[in-house]
Amino acid sequence: MSVRILALVGSLRAGSHNRQLAEAAVKLAPEGAEVVLYEGLADVPFYNEDIDVEGGVPDAAAKLREAAQGADAFLLFSPEYNGTIPAVLKNAIDWLSRPYGAGAFGGKPVAVIGTAFGQYGGVWAQDDTRKAVGIAGGKVIEDIKLSIPGSVTRFAETHPVDDAEVAAQLTEVVARLHGNVGEATAA
Ligand SMILES: Cc1cc2nc3c(=O)[nH]c(=O)nc-3n(C[C@H](O)[C@H](O)[C@H](O)COP(=O)(O)O)c2cc1C
Repeated sequence: MSVRILALVGSLRAGSHNRQLAEAAVKLAPEGAEVVLYEGLADVPFYNEDIDVEGGVPDAAAKLREAAQGADAFLLFSPEYNGTIPAVLKNAIDWLSRPYGAGAFGGKPVAVIGTAFGQYGGVWAQDDTRKAVGIAGGKVIEDIKLSIPGSVTRFAETHPVDDAEVAAQLTEVVARLHGNVGEATAA
């Protein structure tokens, strides 16, 4: 049975380079794993405990939770907005962190990578994402890291899947995340 890795992207823009990284990860997944790019984060309302009640959860949030429940691992792609995690990704993490103690991350492996325009590739945002998703119940694989600087210029003409260095790095990221699922199952 194929390992299902759910990709969540913290940028909503059509030409997002983080989205392109996720598209590349879909193509570069090793045999026995599939990376599924989650569509629909734009429709998820801001987290609000008043609506997170039986019969009140918005469809878009319920769909996100369902997709996450069906995943074996998560690959999060974050750009950096003003030195930290973009709201869209934090909002998804917040929805997936509840019900408290029974959220969909459920101890499953999570890796966080991304690209940003700045010289550090969004490392602050990716570190903050690791912190949040770990508190939300994910098993963060701390040593899987990839922060690609200069997104706007590096990927101006070249899709990440056609950038040999990035494609090799992504291949390793997905393979290692996949390997962590195996370890979690064998343990
Ligand atoms: C609101 C906003 C804040 C930003 N803040 C940062 C930042 O703190 N550090 C950084 O490296 N880039 C920052 N950028 C530039 C983004 O890294 C760049 O737009 C990146 O390509 C966004 O990712 P995307 O291509 O996936 O949309 C910011 C962009 C926006 C729109």
